[in-house]
Amino acid sequence: MKYAIETFGLSKQYGDFTAVDALNMKIKEKSIFGFLGPNGAGKTTTIKMLTCLIQPTNGTARVAGYDVKENPNEVRKIGMVPQLVSLYGDLTVRENVELCADYYGMPRDLKKERIVELMELVDIKYAENKMVKQLSGGQKQKVSVVASLVHQPDILFLDEPTIGLDPSTKRVLWDLIYDLNEKGHTIVLCSHDMYEVELLCDKVGIINQGKLAAFNTPQSLKDSLIKKYTSNGPFKDSSNLELEVDEGEVENKQMSIMVTNLNRDLIKEIEDLPSVCGLKEHSSGRIIMDMDDDSSCAVNDVIETVLKNQGNITSIATRDPSLEDVFMKVTGKDPGE
Ligand SMILES: Nc1ncnc2c1ncn2[C@@H]1O[C@H](COP(=O)(O)OP(=O)(O)O)[C@@H](O)[C@H]1O
Ligand SMILES: [Mg+2]
Repeated sequence: MKYAIETFGLSKQYGDFTAVDALNMKIKEKSIFGFLGPNGAGKTTTIKMLTCLIQPTNGTARVAGYDVKENPNEVRKIGMVPQLVSLYGDLTVRENVELCADYYGMPRDLKKERIVELMELVDIKYAENKMVKQLSGGQKQKVSVVASLVHQPDILFLDEPTIGLDPSTKRVLWDLIYDLNEKGHTIVLCSHDMYEVELLCDKVGIINQGKLAAFNTPQSLKDSLIKKYTSNGPFKDSSNLELEVDEGEVENKQMSIMVTNLNRDLIKEIEDLPSVCGLKEHSSGRIIMDMDDDSSCAVNDVIETVLKNQGNITSIATRDPSLEDVFMKVTGKDPGE
C-alpha cells in the first residue's frame, strides 16, 4: 500500500497549549481525504506542518515519501494551501495567479492555457484585470481557488475551499476536485460542509482538541453509530482508528410513518413489536419509532402490522445516522460552530 501522507506522533505545541496532539494517520495515494473538526481543533495547524510552513514540536510526517523535517524543500514543492496563498491586493487577479504559477515554475504556454481555463470555470475571468483589493470575499475566494489549482500538485491541500462560494461555483470546484483525483492527485480537504465531505471523500478523519477522534470511510463511520462496537467488528483495520461507540451511545435508525386511521390499539401493537425500541406520537397522526438495527426486517414488521389492521399509510420515511451525527457524537459540537 502506498501512502501519500503518513504522520507519526505529529504534534504542535504553542507554549503550554497542545494544538496537535500525537497524530497518527495514513492517507492513501490518489484518495480524497476529508479532515473534519470543530474550529480550533488543529486542522490548519496539521496542514501547515504537512506543507512545511511550520515545524512540528514532536513527531514527524512523510509527505509523498519525504520527511517534513529532513526534506522540507522537497515537501514544499508538492503541496500547497490555497487559504495561505496570500493574494496581493494591489495586483490584478491575473497577476496574482501568474505569480503563483511562476513560483512553481510552470511552463509559459501551459500556464496561460490553464489560467484562462480555470478563470472561466469558476467565472472570475470577467474580473481578471481588477485589483484584488476591489473584489468581494467570494470573488477573492475564487481567485484563491484558481491560484491553488493552476499548478496541479500531486497532493493538494484545500483548507475550507468552498467557504464563501456561491452554490454554482461550489459545484464547479467539486467537479474540479473530482477530476483532479481521477487524474491521480491526492486531495486533503478540510471542510465544515458535511454534504461536501460525503460527496467527495473516500476517507474521513475527525480531529477534536488536537487528537484524532475517528478515522474511517464516511459510510463506516455512520454504520459504527448504529452498530454496536466490537473490538473485532467488521470494519476493523489495524491502520485505522475506529470510532468507538459505547453501547449506551448507540444511535438508532429511525422510522416515521403517517397513518390516517391510527388508533390506540394499533399504536400499542406497533410499540410491542420486538424491532421497535421506542415510539413517539405526533399530533398530526405521524408516529416516529426508534428501530432495532439488529433486526433486518424492522421496517417490514411495522408496515405489516399497520396493513394487517387495515391502517391507511400515507407516508413512510426512514433515517440513518448522518455524518453530521457522527461529528456531533465525536466532538460534541455542531459542524458549523
Ligand atoms: N501561532 C499560534 N500560536 C498560538 N496558538 C495557535 C497558533 N496557531 C494556532 N493556534 C491555536 O491552535 C489551535 C488549533 O488551531 P487551528 O489549527 O487553526 O484550528 P482549525 O484549523 O482546526 O480551526 C487553536 O486553539 C489556535 O488558537
Ligand atoms: Mg482552520
